Amino acid sequence: MSITGTNTAGDLAGRNGFNGLRVIAFESRMAAEMRVLIERYGGQATVAPSMREVPLEDNHAALDWAARLFKGEFDCTVFLTGVGTRELFRAIESRYSRAEIVSALKQIMTVARGPKPVAAMRELGFTPTIVVPEPNTWRELLEEVVQKIGPAGKRIAIQEYGMTNRDLTAGLEARGAIVTVVPIYRWTLPLDRAPLREAIRQIAVGETDVVLFTSATQVTHVVQVAEADGIGAALREGFKRAVVASIGPICSQELRNRGIEVDLEPVHPKLGHLVKEAAGQTVAILERKRPASFATARAAGAAARIEASRPQPVTPARANALWENPFMKACRREAAPYTPIWLMRQAGRYMPEYRKLRNQLSFIEMCQRPAIAAEVTVTAAERLDVDAAIIFADILLPLVPMGVGLRYEKGDGPMIERPLRTASDLDRIPPIGVEDALGYVGEAIRMVRASLGDHKPLIGFAGAPFTLASYLIEGGASRQYQATKTLMYTNPSVWDRMMTLIASVTADYLKMQIEAGADVIQLFDSWVGSLGPDDYRHFVLPYTRNVIDEIGKTVPVIHFGTVTGNLLELMCEAGGDVIGLDWRVDLAEAWARLGYDVGVQGNLDPIALFAEPAEIRKRAKAILDAAGGRPGHIFNLGHGILPETPVDHVIALVEAVHELSAR
Ligand code: CP3
Repeated sequence: MSITGTNTAGDLAGRNGFNGLRVIAFESRMAAEMRVLIERYGGQATVAPSMREVPLEDNHAALDWAARLFKGEFDCTVFLTGVGTRELFRAIESRYSRAEIVSALKQIMTVARGPKPVAAMRELGFTPTIVVPEPNTWRELLEEVVQKIGPAGKRIAIQEYGMTNRDLTAGLEARGAIVTVVPIYRWTLPLDRAPLREAIRQIAVGETDVVLFTSATQVTHVVQVAEADGIGAALREGFKRAVVASIGPICSQELRNRGIEVDLEPVHPKLGHLVKEAAGQTVAILERKRPASFATARAAGAAARIEASRPQPVTPARANALWENPFMKACRREAAPYTPIWLMRQAGRYMPEYRKLRNQLSFIEMCQRPAIAAEVTVTAAERLDVDAAIIFADILLPLVPMGVGLRYEKGDGPMIERPLRTASDLDRIPPIGVEDALGYVGEAIRMVRASLGDHKPLIGFAGAPFTLASYLIEGGASRQYQATKTLMYTNPSVWDRMMTLIASVTADYLKMQIEAGADVIQLFDSWVGSLGPDDYRHFVLPYTRNVIDEIGKTVPVIHFGTVTGNLLELMCEAGGDVIGLDWRVDLAEAWARLGYDVGVQGNLDPIALFAEPAEIRKRAKAILDAAGGRPGHIFNLGHGILPETPVDHVIALVEAVHELSAR
């Protein structure tokens, strides 16, 4: 097979290098070396670390292993990795001296899986009895142990890394060994995942020529992140059009298990061999995998590369520390150990703690005093034991600097003294700097963040443009939205100006909240359900989309509305990682309609909380059943908690959801 066009196969193969092709690698520890190697062979390197080692805190398994070693309870210890071997020593050197440990190890058989544990063992002062030959997989290991030790009746400890290797333990046990695994550290995703996500995106859209995998866990993580981003299928398609190179048999097996074809495995399972052999064979493999369009794809690639090099938004560091929290996982549609729950209006009049403070201050004063707002936020989240806190504030606070005369009236809800209905009303609105006008919300967020630490995520929020516009135009709550719709239908240019202004203030306000420490944003479009789909599409969707586009790349966004059964798909089109559902829709049906590449939040009727706990539990179970344990469900009410709700019923709901959904 030949490639059409100039400067192609022979040319590239002649130089025996990547010759400017785009090469992605997921190596973490040796990321810098990997980049140098790829560049040395003429590739355009993207190295996106996909793993991070987390040493197990307070490592009991390591200490138990040491205690048993000294008692003579092991005949053999297998060291699987270099880092793990060092980490094992570090964990037990708090209690035993290195000389003691080494001398105990010299009494038994020690097995090193490959050169890295050998190097670590030498450094620590001993040499292994057995070194497993290449390619250093569990098969060679098992064979060596069978031949040189004879596992029957032997007590074998295995220093384990990341995942348990069930093939190895089962193989040893089947041959009569008594196996103890000693977990040392586990793998998790890197703190800054932006480069990883970008690399995955490039593969998925066909902007990559070569992908290098240097461990099985990299494969697992890449697929996991792609699926969380809803591009798992596209990623698999992307692999079909690129060279997939794998360091060795375990990694290749993981790729095949996930339906990804492996194009090459080097003779030796080493970084240098992998890159060199990939450089040598890439052209031939690409000719086979994308025969007709290889040359054109390469030409198009140049333009795509420019596009791909645009700066990526930075994931805020604090969000990373909370990465593994069930609520954050659900926002990314990743499997969580249980369904997370929080409740809209979780801090409020139904809580005695709140009423006490509220007796002394007006609602706006409470919001404007960061220490008070922070205290109310944290108290509610802790007391209820929900999985996320929401900052104590109100969607109408951005109307205060607009000078429209916002007041919160007892019983009547919010009132606006000078509603906006004409172009000249709009001209009255002063320019708004969110830091000056609403900095107190940012300050409260910083205080809550400091208080919650890594233990609970914090939700920031704002009203969506339509709901805010409806308050500004109606002057308060409304049944029919007569003035709002009249303006929309009769004066679309004023409507556009107003929505553009609100969207821009809202985006600035939310960015400030994210900057201050909000881990997730919820956009409340509480009253948008009053519109038909056509009006939503023309008069709402573009403005909401602008707000979400501005912030949605940095933190997950929950997009919420009520009475939106007829608008869900359109809301999803406007944006959001998670779509809020009220109780008027069936959760299973709504989610199926939206598709499972978006999360859902909801959807218990707030009035169900007035029923007895047994009934609450039954209704919670029905919702959990409707969600079917799918990743990406956040339990919540369909709308806010009502002021008369019994606190103990709220707590009962949270407990029931945690218990019923535990996986
Ligand atoms: O959820 C939380 O605990 C965080 C705080 C929060 C409040 N308001 C506090 C509040 C949130 C997220 C909101 C959002 C909000 N505010 C929405 C969207 C959510 C929804 O219910 O649809 C809307 C439409 C508003 C506007 C608003 N603010 C109304 C209609 C009212 C009066 C009615 C009511 O429920 O009290 C408020 C006042 C308000 N916002 C209170 C609280 C705790 C009560 C103030 C008081 O103590 O008098």
